[in-house]
Amino acid sequence: MKFFIDTANLAQIKEAQELGILDGVTTNPSLMAKEGITGKNNILKHYVDICNLVEGDVSAEVNALDLEGMIREGEELADLSDQIVIKLPMTIDGIKACKYFSDRELKTNMTLVFSAGQALLAAKAGATYVSPFIGRLDDISSDGLVLIEEIRDIYDNYGYETEILAASIRHTMHIVNCAKIGADVMTGPLSAILGLVKHPLTDLGIAQFVADYEKGNI
Ligand code: E4P
Repeated sequence: MKFFIDTANLAQIKEAQELGILDGVTTNPSLMAKEGITGKNNILKHYVDICNLVEGDVSAEVNALDLEGMIREGEELADLSDQIVIKLPMTIDGIKACKYFSDRELKTNMTLVFSAGQALLAAKAGATYVSPFIGRLDDISSDGLVLIEEIRDIYDNYGYETEILAASIRHTMHIVNCAKIGADVMTGPLSAILGLVKHPLTDLGIAQFVADYEKGNI
């Protein structure tokens, strides 16, 4: 399973990168705004800064809602680095833009996906990644993990190469459960990734080993 970090915060991206397990980064306009990154030039520069910190794919979202605007913005983003994945909203124009870019061998990520039908369309349009938002489904008393299972079944039925990128991950068990189902990638906050390390028996075991080692060395 690939691990992406879902943030535009450079310090957190660096911390995740230093763990040695990071495969990429996803961002969105809200995450950029949260870091105070506004204005086209600052946003483009921030994407370059992120690409310089990591080796893998970096999803950069278009803001336009019309096909022409998405193509213009997507081409500008893709020109920044080979690492850039053009992130497109799941709309009619988003699907058309996805096909346009995949025909030109540019990487795409169809975002804001909440149904298996939307994921099927993304695969048909040749998306590199499809991003089902599992946390937002859980927020409205639906079940995000069921959606991941449905998409996995559909993609396996037809051998679609689009990678399932489980997004809107809220906590550590979301990551574990997505891995059990077979999501190809997960993107989550640093806290959810670091949560994978923790177990009270590990802490107790370390304390015991340290104490026994020190006894033998007095
Ligand atoms: C995915 O690419 C999105 O940036 C993200 O996972 C959305 O997560 P949220 O629902 O926590 O905002």
